[in-house]
Amino acid sequence: MQEKINKHINDIENINIITSADAENFQRTYLGKQGILNKLFSEFKNLSNDDKKKSGKALNTLKTIAFDKIKNLENTTNATENNIKIDLTMPSNYQKLGAQHPLTNVKNRIIDIFNKVGFVFSSGPEIEDDWHNFSALNMPQNHPARDMQDTFFISLNPDTLLRTHTSSVQIRYMEKNPPPIRIISPGRVYRKEDISARAHCIFHQIEGLYIDQDVSFADLKKMIMYFVKSLFGKDVKIRFRPSFFPFTEPSAEVDIYWGLNSKTDYRITKGTGWLEIMGCGMIDPNVLENVNIDSKKFSGFAFGLGIERIAMLLHQVDDLRLFFENDIRFLKQFQ
Ligand code: PHE
Repeated sequence: MQEKINKHINDIENINIITSADAENFQRTYLGKQGILNKLFSEFKNLSNDDKKKSGKALNTLKTIAFDKIKNLENTTNATENNIKIDLTMPSNYQKLGAQHPLTNVKNRIIDIFNKVGFVFSSGPEIEDDWHNFSALNMPQNHPARDMQDTFFISLNPDTLLRTHTSSVQIRYMEKNPPPIRIISPGRVYRKEDISARAHCIFHQIEGLYIDQDVSFADLKKMIMYFVKSLFGKDVKIRFRPSFFPFTEPSAEVDIYWGLNSKTDYRITKGTGWLEIMGCGMIDPNVLENVNIDSKKFSGFAFGLGIERIAMLLHQVDDLRLFFENDIRFLKQFQ
């Protein structure tokens, strides 16, 4: 018996308790109901008085050592918890960051897509003159097409206005830079329009302009297809509709399929199921001549995308006004 006890004492001294599983294991093996200590104590009861005398002391030592082992363990963990207050592995108590506005986010995604195929960023002023917003774009004074875009004029001066489209940036860029040209120009535009679920008096466009030798309508179509597939995925449903703009000939509008299931779908798509996202076309030779580019040598295309419409399609937002109201419950969803 005494030998057995001494062996256990030796064992306990050599046991390394590192994890909580180790501790549990130790507790169960030595101190549990069916543990070694209990077993030894019941064996002890049956010993002769003589043997009891011999083993008693050793058994008590074993008991003390086993309990001390666990006690020491508790002491050391308490000590570390008290001494080291900073746990470097804990996730930091970070401040929540704000989110990008969905329009900014969509704008940046669109710019990235065109950057990849060589379009460079260019911008122009929001307060424009008649020449850049209208006349140079083949819309002389009293041209009926000016009515397509009801204009905010500034200080009763018919020459100063809030630009009605980003096409004015085309003119500004072509005046200063010879072809070949590939630019992408995002910006805010203004029109005296009734505010509704699908229109606003302030909205955002991205203008694209591509001018080189031998550019054809097929190039335009290919570029638009590349763009919509990059943004909406390859299964996107898209259609080109013939249209009219004074500065492009031929002209087209591009629609993306929205769906026609609910009342809202009817309202948003005017009952067609399609949502217009851009106007485009081949630059009218008159426009090139207005900025002294040889229209016999060069041709090109332009397009003007509506950022709100695209964001509506991407995020299934069924009211354009939400983008301008700064309702935190709406914006939070884009974090
Ligand atoms: N500027 C046109 C609009 O705002 C869109 C457009 C841009 C059309 C470029 C053709 C070419 O409606």
